[in-house]
Amino acid sequence: MIIAVDGPAASGKGTIARALAGHFGLPHMDTGMLYRAVALTMFRFGGDPSSEFEAVRACEGVAQVDPTDPDLRSEIVGSIASRISAYSGVRAALLERQRAFAAQSSGAVLDGRDIGTVIAPNASAKLFVTATPEVRARRRVAELLSRGMPGHFDDVLIDIRARDERDSGRDAAPLAQAADADLLDTSGLTVDEAIAVAIALVEDRI
Ligand code: C5P
Repeated sequence: MIIAVDGPAASGKGTIARALAGHFGLPHMDTGMLYRAVALTMFRFGGDPSSEFEAVRACEGVAQVDPTDPDLRSEIVGSIASRISAYSGVRAALLERQRAFAAQSSGAVLDGRDIGTVIAPNASAKLFVTATPEVRARRRVAELLSRGMPGHFDDVLIDIRARDERDSGRDAAPLAQAADADLLDTSGLTVDEAIAVAIALVEDRI
């Protein structure tokens, strides 16, 4: 059983994917972390995000990045990740790692932008999780503050809108709801409510 969870930044897809993994006893991959690991590698070693060549080269270092490194979650790294994820060379370099994770005999939950459309088009269940940009910005600010990082609503909202535009407007695997995905708008829902709806939607599909 493969569960694909896609959606824009701070929509709640990560929280929902983790909860689904726990509920159904499946391993979980946050695929945004792969793009963030490439971005962090470039940031630390002074790579130029406007060079696809340098970004593709940085993909070789993904396995060396400590997944618990707090800088992975920073806004600057997220913004570089959004830029370098538009390169088809970067997407190709990270594709196999994601497909292999999805192909485990246990099944898997993957969350990202193109899981239901590109990585696992045959997934048993697909959710497209979304929320208004304002709700997402408010959540992202709360998350940043809870991690002891600076977060200002207006800046975060501008960044979220810019990221939505880049993620949806790019040629290579743009953020888009798969035709057979269920839409889950979490704007007016608590975390527990969103998780309950997600579980019900997946149960209907399997
Ligand atoms: O989800 P998260 O914000 O951590 O992802 C960081 C960036 O990586 C996103 O802005 C998006 O551009 C990119 N990404 C992607 N495809 C995925 C996951 C993330 O392009 N499957």
